[in-house]
Amino acid sequence: MQRTTIGVFDSGFGGLTVLRALLPLIPDAHYIYLGDTARLPYGAKSQATIARYAVESARFLAARGADLLVIACNTATALALPEITAAAPIPVIGVVQPGAQAAAQALTLLSEPLALGPEPYVLVLATAATVASHAYRSACAELGLHATEKACPLLVPLVEEGWIDHPVTRDVLRIYLTEALATCNPQAIILGCTHYPLLASEIADTLRNLHSTALIIDSAHATAQAVAAALNMTSQPTSTTATFECFATDSVEKFQRLGNLFLHQPLIDVQLLDLGG
Ligand code: DGL
Repeated sequence: MQRTTIGVFDSGFGGLTVLRALLPLIPDAHYIYLGDTARLPYGAKSQATIARYAVESARFLAARGADLLVIACNTATALALPEITAAAPIPVIGVVQPGAQAAAQALTLLSEPLALGPEPYVLVLATAATVASHAYRSACAELGLHATEKACPLLVPLVEEGWIDHPVTRDVLRIYLTEALATCNPQAIILGCTHYPLLASEIADTLRNLHSTALIIDSAHATAQAVAAALNMTSQPTSTTATFECFATDSVEKFQRLGNLFLHQPLIDVQLLDLGG
């Protein structure tokens, strides 16, 4: 039996946090990763532009042989999932729904000791475009969760600079989280951007310093679980070692250097891809 080919798409390197979460859960797949690094960041662009870019990438991955497509980018999922799903002739899984579901599940499990009000409360940290779309707020509302969304536009460039455990990043986190916690008292915080799982321990420290006991929900991990659940229904493991093809629409050297930070393993075979302007 042929192994399953999973296409993973992101605006850049950040989706490698989703790939990293997929590998231990589905180690027998062939992965095709596409980072649209030439057109990154998506988080500050309009819906029409994000949809156009994401559809081009989805079509490429489907034509390359993907059996299933993971939209690892929160911004592309939030703004263009219907367009991507309509354009791709294969099943598509985005990150927003699994992230909201993971928060709902965590809060249901812990609802007794954490209950602070009539309905469970969630804070979503994301890019400006994701926040403006209110995709997380809608997904949370469908699950009975009340969500406040906070745009954190400085975090993506800080992570890409490698400034993870860095005083500037800690200051920025303190400012964003202080502002957000002045408006709500969440029981869970969804990391609604591919880059934020790299800051999970700094976010946890900042929350502790601000006397918040909110749980941190990593939508990358929740998405990997949703993909594993979807594949268990349709396929059998055929091998135990994942194989990769990686494509970047800009510098291969930069993709390999930053990719290592996100994937925690070297990316040897990265090919340059021209998707046009
Ligand atoms: N991948 C994007 C996301 O998860 C972050 C980077 C960007 O703005 O393109 O929202």
